[in-house]
Amino acid sequence: MASTSPATTTDAATARLIDIAAAVGTPCYVYDADAVRAAYGVLDQAFGGYPHAIHYAMKANSALALVRLLHGLGGHADANSLGEVDVALRCGFAPDQIVFTGVGKSAAEIDRAVALGLLAINVESPGELDRIDQRAVAQGTIARVALRVNPDIDARSHPHISTGLRSSKFGVPIDEAPALFREMASRRGLTPVGAHVHIGSQITTLDPLIRAAEAVVALAHALRDEGIDLQHLDMGGGLGISYDGGPVVNPADYVRALVAAASGSGLKIAIEPGRVLVGPAGVLLTRVVDVKQFAGAKRFIVVDAGMTELMRPALYNAYHRIDPLLPRDGAAEPVDVVGPICESTDAYARDRRLLPVEVDDLLAVRDVGAYGAAMAHTYLRRPLAPEVLIDGGEWRVIRRRQTLDELLALEE
Ligand code: LLP
Repeated sequence: MASTSPATTTDAATARLIDIAAAVGTPCYVYDADAVRAAYGVLDQAFGGYPHAIHYAMKANSALALVRLLHGLGGHADANSLGEVDVALRCGFAPDQIVFTGVGKSAAEIDRAVALGLLAINVESPGELDRIDQRAVAQGTIARVALRVNPDIDARSHPHISTGLRSSKFGVPIDEAPALFREMASRRGLTPVGAHVHIGSQITTLDPLIRAAEAVVALAHALRDEGIDLQHLDMGGGLGISYDGGPVVNPADYVRALVAAASGSGLKIAIEPGRVLVGPAGVLLTRVVDVKQFAGAKRFIVVDAGMTELMRPALYNAYHRIDPLLPRDGAAEPVDVVGPICESTDAYARDRRLLPVEVDDLLAVRDVGAYGAAMAHTYLRRPLAPEVLIDGGEWRVIRRRQTLDELLALEE
């Protein structure tokens, strides 16, 4: 097949991505600080003067530079493990800016969370309530707790990332919540400060998010009637982004709807956004390592990134836009973009129309700032890819590529 030459004119953003790929190699993640700032600003401003806290869900991407960036913007933190709690502390968050969620907190995690005096430990079960109380009493302190309620609402997202149905492992059924709040209020080691709900992720319609918020507000009113006064309502995260150009919830509309639902209570609103803050800010650069097609079969574009770097397509059949950085002349044609891993699920796109590419061309996989690098792993002894942050017209490596020696360093 005749080779076509890549376009010679590029915009500044593309030229910079090409420079970065040349300097740090591929695969690599590149984030845009301004995109994170803008996304944060939209949420923050939409609250108007209403009391609120934006707890960045670090699970989406806990690269220290990004967590520090969100701290600098005035954000708070949502941690889902002791590791994430420590990341938040190292990035400057005070313990009373951190909420700690997790469906299976270990004894060590509870112990440390209690000792730190976090803003709230989000309680997932009656047993956990008991364990937190015991540890607080043993430490001679009082732990601030919120109850994670499960409102039995279908988030209408991918089943793997829906958490608000009664059949899911998360939280306690909302009808059991009043009794558990009473229990918390009666414990020597606990003080109930909030109610928490999180019904899923990549939610693209407002209705389930608002119904969940309204359920939590109603609960807070009922508790107030019983003399249990909360300090905040934690509405969780879950706002979806448009991976494929399809309609999503406008983040400002979402915040305004939350405020409308909660304002009668006067309670502070906490939210835990992850994806909407960092997802669109990230791109994964990968290089074509092979192009193969046999008679009557598909055309495969084999790239140097795979499910090790970005799990989402393999795990959720997730769609990510992919485009060649320097498109060649010719018509788009259907291809499978696949990774180098020895698993058939290791494909970023199937039957996707892509402009012609050749070996060594660079591709950009879009909207990977959330749950990309954070979920990367080292299957096949593939070292973790580097991460780069573009900020103020400059770029810098915020995590260098892992070396094979580092990958093996824990072993005999
Ligand atoms: N709060 C809690 C308690 C959560 O479990 C999550 C996400 C969030 C906040 C943040 O949700 P977000 O605003 O990012 O939707 N790996 C999956 C997503 C898993 C989400 C888990 N929990 C993906 O790649 O789509």
